[in-house]
Amino acid sequence: MKVRSASSPGKIILFGEHFVVYGKPAIVSAIDLRAKVKIQPTSEPQVKLSNGSTHNPAVKAAEYILQELKINLGLIIDIESTIPPSAGLGSSASISVASAAATSLLLLDRIDLDLVREAAFVGEKLVHFNPSGIDTSIALYGGSGLYTRAESLKPINISIDRLLVIDTGKTRKTGEMVKKVREFYEENKEKFKEILEEYDEILNSVLDSFKNRNLEDIGKLMLRNQELLREIGVSCEEIEKAIKTALDAGAYGAKLTGAGGGGCVVALIDEDRLEKAVSMISEKFKVYTPRLSAEGVREEKT
Ligand code: MEV
Repeated sequence: MKVRSASSPGKIILFGEHFVVYGKPAIVSAIDLRAKVKIQPTSEPQVKLSNGSTHNPAVKAAEYILQELKINLGLIIDIESTIPPSAGLGSSASISVASAAATSLLLLDRIDLDLVREAAFVGEKLVHFNPSGIDTSIALYGGSGLYTRAESLKPINISIDRLLVIDTGKTRKTGEMVKKVREFYEENKEKFKEILEEYDEILNSVLDSFKNRNLEDIGKLMLRNQELLREIGVSCEEIEKAIKTALDAGAYGAKLTGAGGGGCVVALIDEDRLEKAVSMISEKFKVYTPRLSAEGVREEKT
């Protein structure tokens, strides 16, 4: 058995993080920052990272596949990733998917998508409280789509190729943010219902705005979505500062992406203003300009 490798993309959520946990559709896109995972068999009986760690979603995902296939084998896992961790860009889901895919390649000589999806979800649970599955689905299939817990990912054309991703530099744990929203929900059920209704309106409008590529409207809707995220308590000073910086640099709109509490902000801007905005924003924050709708999981040369 030889070494096998796979890679998978990070993601941005354009609309609907947290609300997706409560059954609402969210709009998500794969980005061209990727995690690559290399898996090789070892004579030791354990599955672990090359640094010896076993507390990692990549390890849990690989172990799940070994268990499902009833194979007793030790594995060494190497991770190389360009996705900043704990920043809302789906790093752990991407690592889980790539690890599961490389394990599937090693043991079955193909990427079994159903098995990889289940394994990656198990990996995600290690770092996440009650995941909706959005991060693992987009890391698996790539592209852009509308994700719901009930129907998984349906591809849609979001008509945007690139946007600004601004890293606040503040890391946080997705699981803790999801728990925080759960507490808000338990204590404010009526208010939460109203927020979800307002989100429905935003979502319907944005699906129309994508059709005629109305960036100005999409930007305004991003700001409205951000207001709702603020109300449920997942924004913070650093996020608000990053949003203001993006708007000052000419963005149509901006909002947090992922779980919030820090992490990244996404901002929509005309492609011809992108370069200038990057130079302005990078005086204060680290900025990425990822291409959207990137390819899903794939085999890589080892
Ligand atoms: C995390 O990328 C998105 C959240 O909605 C959690 C989830 O859907 O699993 C905050």
